[in-house]
Amino acid sequence: MTEPAPPPYSLPLFSALQRLAESKDYPFYAPGHKRGRGIAPELLQAWGADVFRYDLPELPEFDNLFCPSGAIAEAQALAAQVWGADQTWFLVNGSTVGLQAAILAVCGEGDKLLLSRNSHSSALAGAILAGAEPIFLAPEVDPEWDLAGSFTPETLAEALKAHPDAKAVLALCPNYQGVGGDLKKIAELTHAQGLPLIADGAHGAHLGFHPGFPPGALQQGADVVVQSAHKTLGALSQAALLHLQGFRVSPQRLSQALQLLQSTSPNALLLASLDGARSQLQRDGAALMERTLKLAQSARRALNAIPGLKCLQIPEPRPGFHSLDPSRLTVDVSAWGLTGFEIDDLLRQQFQVTAELPTLRQLTFILSLGNCEGDIAALTQAFKSLAPSAKTAPLILPNLTLPLTKFALTPRQAIWAPREQAVRAQAPGRINTRLLCPYPPGIPILVPGEVITAEAIDYLETILDAGGAVNGLDSQGLDVWEVVA
Ligand SMILES: Cc1ncc(COP(=O)(O)O)c(C=O)c1O
Repeated sequence: MTEPAPPPYSLPLFSALQRLAESKDYPFYAPGHKRGRGIAPELLQAWGADVFRYDLPELPEFDNLFCPSGAIAEAQALAAQVWGADQTWFLVNGSTVGLQAAILAVCGEGDKLLLSRNSHSSALAGAILAGAEPIFLAPEVDPEWDLAGSFTPETLAEALKAHPDAKAVLALCPNYQGVGGDLKKIAELTHAQGLPLIADGAHGAHLGFHPGFPPGALQQGADVVVQSAHKTLGALSQAALLHLQGFRVSPQRLSQALQLLQSTSPNALLLASLDGARSQLQRDGAALMERTLKLAQSARRALNAIPGLKCLQIPEPRPGFHSLDPSRLTVDVSAWGLTGFEIDDLLRQQFQVTAELPTLRQLTFILSLGNCEGDIAALTQAFKSLAPSAKTAPLILPNLTLPLTKFALTPRQAIWAPREQAVRAQAPGRINTRLLCPYPPGIPILVPGEVITAEAIDYLETILDAGGAVNGLDSQGLDVWEVVA
């Protein structure tokens, strides 16, 4: 006998957890705080007792993330229905683990993976785990904004011709600033070659639920899509989704890869928050997105009216800049004679306005269903207050086009290869061993296996001089380089 379908806005996983949290038992299982009784008193006082009652392990009524057959299976099936996937997996280590699993599912040792040069470090980590050979595709760059968009279908077509043995393609949809490429064409080209398309949709979990937003990556034909539900929806940090559609990627391989990479003690609060985010989107998504859109429009209008500021727009699709998520606000501040990092400090210290991503020229703000009119008023007022301190001379900044260097070894060969040190002057021409990336946005400037160039070192120096942070560097900074011996 088939089970009756659950009501459309049910919360199977959250409800299972709630029932467990409200039930009494004698806990001889982990976590060791035993429903909060053993938690440090400072935490209990600050966070309250409730949160700890929900911090439960995979008890039978909650289900098992790696072998779901109950509440998790039900919640994942509802998510698949809402996002339009054939199958959806809940993730407890962000899009990071989703991208790694997706790459492990399609690439083995020495296999070629075609991916955008502005891919996130987690995609490169996936290539390291798989032993894959990354083939970088150059994204289109807007020189005025010094901003990388997507690679074009033409760039992909050339790469597919040059690498007929490639195993998969990975594209961003959208990028950190909300810029999307022609993913539909990219998917068609990839599929015509018999390959799967993985989309890094870390920033796009909310797309496709309102006509004022661009379509999501699944709607444009990607086979595997990874989304950080925690970035733009009401899910807790690290809670993310991996969606699959079609026949090109094996669901068993994805499940197996996730089992290799994720904790065997997944956090129940994170998983239940994905159930909540899905149900909220299903019930109120259109209205919440409409509200977000209106807030973003009013912020854009107000900021564009402040002398010297301009917000990123894509009025007409052009190569590599096909669409823009309207809830991503990227503001160019370089005409004010200060860097994005400097303005970021001022906004936070003087006005408690905190951006998502400062770069040399710009600040990117994420607007989401959690923002309100007061936030927009504070943001625009802060910029208005800062306007008089703008310098008269605009900042002259180097354009930081990401270097498209060659790999001498695969990232996995290089990251574990015997190393030696080289002083900065002797580093160019040597093989890099580290994943060096300004964070945020987490796009590596140098990947293990790439040949170090003076240009790449200068790029990192520019970021450090401007106050940015570079993950992967140690206390010796750029003076001493770890290179393949
Ligand atoms: C483009 C992109 N992909 C993937 C990730 C990783 O996402 P998460 O933080 O959910 O692991 C990020 C994080 O910022 C990102 O910007």
